[in-house]
Amino acid sequence: MNKLGQLAYLGQWYVRALLGRRAPLQSVIFILDKCNLRCRHCSVYELEHPRVKTFQAIREELEDCYRAGSRFVDFEGGELYLWKDRKEGSDAFYTIDDVLDLAHEIGFFSATITTNAQLPFNGSHADTVFVSMDGVGKWHDDIRGEGTFARLEKHIHAFHREKPLCVNMVVNNRNMSGVDETLEYVLHNPDIDHIAFNFHTPFRETESLYLDPEERNNLIDRLMDYKRRGYPIMNTTDGLKAMKVQNGKVLCTDKYCWVTNFIFSDGSRSPKCMGFTHGVCDRCGFTMGGEMYSLFHLSPETILAGLQLRKSNDKKVKR
Ligand SMILES: C[S@@+](CC[C@H](N)C(=O)[O-])C[C@H]1O[C@@H](n2cnc3c(N)ncnc32)[C@H](O)[C@@H]1O
Repeated sequence: MNKLGQLAYLGQWYVRALLGRRAPLQSVIFILDKCNLRCRHCSVYELEHPRVKTFQAIREELEDCYRAGSRFVDFEGGELYLWKDRKEGSDAFYTIDDVLDLAHEIGFFSATITTNAQLPFNGSHADTVFVSMDGVGKWHDDIRGEGTFARLEKHIHAFHREKPLCVNMVVNNRNMSGVDETLEYVLHNPDIDHIAFNFHTPFRETESLYLDPEERNNLIDRLMDYKRRGYPIMNTTDGLKAMKVQNGKVLCTDKYCWVTNFIFSDGSRSPKCMGFTHGVCDRCGFTMGGEMYSLFHLSPETILAGLQLRKSNDKKVKR
């Protein structure tokens, strides 16, 4: 579908959604829960019995999501660069790039990945690559393990922004003091387009990392100020505002989270993210919660950002 057709589809979806029709526009598909890192804040990886989906299973899930109306897909893990599936009657393997090609063939407008960048990702077939970066140097290594930042930096550099590259920082009470340094690093690093901010969501056994609500709100004010000054923050200002916490609850609530449907590594499905399943929506830190809230509060800024279809090749403004 050409760009005009995509815009028409989005317009139609939005009007219908405002009228009360709930069809997902975006899907998050976890294709494995095997990982090469053991991050402090994460509870997604599975050590003993990791699940790895077949190419055929992923095809069926993608087709189901597309039929339900979804047109954007983000693949998640575990670590996507560990995923492979043997091609029938051959010694060759499908890789994450074959999965991305499949999503495009099916008709998704955009297919993105999130990686920890411990393995090279040159030549990725994704429309945007999200790299998880929880600070610079020691800040990142404290969350993700010794040497992980050096490998990330090396692989980001080797990628040379072949496609838009956004780093994804999850702020918690261990790395919060590293946010300013991270913003300077991103601003001056020619290999990175944007940074997206999430806050720690306290899944089971990671509760101790939850950021104090007052500190979180103050940080959000500072991030909005950085954004005004031209720092390449991907979150919209309205989306950030909606991630503030009032009386122990995030403002954005989970009211609009049905926009994204989820299929987990075990094949189970949910019309909302795992935060909903785990009962932590009141303390949600995921960017998408804030962005969806402002989209349905008719924020022109968020609508415009959405219209860029996550395919924008705009380079960040250098200062
Ligand atoms: C589960 S990881 C899997 C992808 C890949 N292995 C990686 O590290 O990027 C996907 C994203 O979720 C984030 N994440 C993990 N635990 C989180 C939590 N408790 N709250 C918010 N984000 C979290 C990670 O930092 C990462 O950006």
